[in-house]
Amino acid sequence: LTASLTLDPDFQVADVPPRMFGSFAEHLGRCVYTGIYEPEHENADGDGFRRDVLDLTRELGVSVVRYPGGNFVSGYRWEDGIGPVESRPQRLDLAWRSRETNAFGVGEFATWTRRAGVEPMMALNLGTRGVQEACDLLEYCNHPGGTYWSDLRIAHGYEKPFDVRLWCLGNELDGPWQIGHKTAEEYGRLAAETARAMRMIDPSLELVACGSSHSSMPTFGTWEATVLEHAYEHVDYISLHAYYQQHNGDLGSFLASAVDMEDFIESVVATADHVRARTGNTKRINLSFDEWNVWYQTAWHEQGPPDGWPIAPRLIEDTYNVADAVVVGSLLIALLRHSDRVAIACLAQLVNAIAPIRTEPNGASWRQTTFYPFSHAAQLARGRVLRVEPSSPTYVNERFGETPVVHAVATHEPESDEIVVFAVNRHPDEPVELTVGHRAFSDARAVEHVVLAGDIHAANTRDEPNRVSPRRAESTADGGTASLVLPAVSWNVIRLR
Ligand code: AHR
Repeated sequence: LTASLTLDPDFQVADVPPRMFGSFAEHLGRCVYTGIYEPEHENADGDGFRRDVLDLTRELGVSVVRYPGGNFVSGYRWEDGIGPVESRPQRLDLAWRSRETNAFGVGEFATWTRRAGVEPMMALNLGTRGVQEACDLLEYCNHPGGTYWSDLRIAHGYEKPFDVRLWCLGNELDGPWQIGHKTAEEYGRLAAETARAMRMIDPSLELVACGSSHSSMPTFGTWEATVLEHAYEHVDYISLHAYYQQHNGDLGSFLASAVDMEDFIESVVATADHVRARTGNTKRINLSFDEWNVWYQTAWHEQGPPDGWPIAPRLIEDTYNVADAVVVGSLLIALLRHSDRVAIACLAQLVNAIAPIRTEPNGASWRQTTFYPFSHAAQLARGRVLRVEPSSPTYVNERFGETPVVHAVATHEPESDEIVVFAVNRHPDEPVELTVGHRAFSDARAVEHVVLAGDIHAANTRDEPNRVSPRRAESTADGGTASLVLPAVSWNVIRLR
């Protein structure tokens, strides 16, 4: 198979959104406890944060981390997680049928984000709680002092406000599994009133309204429209969530998962713009894709929740293989291709629970296969996103029909003049010879091609943490074109300098 694409600095989509490379830390299984926080671990720092996980978080290139949920947040009392640890209550976590010790709370999270060099994105409980508790948390986090909640923060040892700019108005309230599940009318009103009150404290906050939990929700489309009819002028973003997995051995459809993600994004953009037109608003609502990943949800549903309300059980610790990493890469390409409207995206999640980083309690940590496409994109996508429209052969799969084999996007950093092409070969068994035309830049360009491919079932595990890693591949540069081979089922990074 052969394919080609052309690079041109004028084909700009948008500046690379810095918050495109976000992640998510929920109180879920071992994401927080024995993930980012394990005071007894030999690598823990003075605050109980695992240094190995902090290092891997920085290496991953994460820019923003959403917290504390997820389904968890819809039953969470944030006040349980502040003050002296010994007096914090243990609670039932209904979402994950676990016991929450509250040893880690908002103050620990704020400290951890500073140490990790990431921006905090705070989610509010709009399932069982409302406007008052949201304002109280905002006051605790951001008010300088001289009020009940801000003075309490100072008394807890945090003199400086946390200055959280980005707030999610609840989580997945369209889903019947959500504690405090609501209709679009109920949620739209609550989101608008919460946003209005929060803006009385600080008009410059950035607020995310909940969109649909996935694109096949029965209320998808009408949920977004109704919520935005109520909340349009009070919020900045509408959220999207999507998880993909291989069903019944259908690799071809799984590799084409980004077709669904792109369609989902375009439908939400259309819905938000429809409400804009109807309501006569001038601003545009952008998208916060604040949960996305590969997740073997059928395995989770078969396994079911744990018995006996355990503390930090092993939940949804999916082990990712090469095919999963290629799909994650393709989903990153889909997000970048829509960076004119997708301003925020969070890989769900960061550690252990459906995560690129895995740890053992009191033990090692390692990079899953999915770590690599994310870290490549987060570290190398700089400057502007360029639209590329590959001329590509297609393959047929059951879910999406005829699908282009090559899925790609590029970025251009004008100062260094570095161009990076991110490309996936979605064909289940055929390699593709790709020609990259870069005449619009300059003729003399060194090319580096890094590829993640090979045995599609191979994964990194505690015993074999480095089984899968990216490798350098051959490429040739000739005048205004570069030529390289994208192996079947592969993630590729092509740097031109
Ligand atoms: O990320 C795991 C779960 O997926 C989150 O708690 C929830 O928001 C979503 O359904």
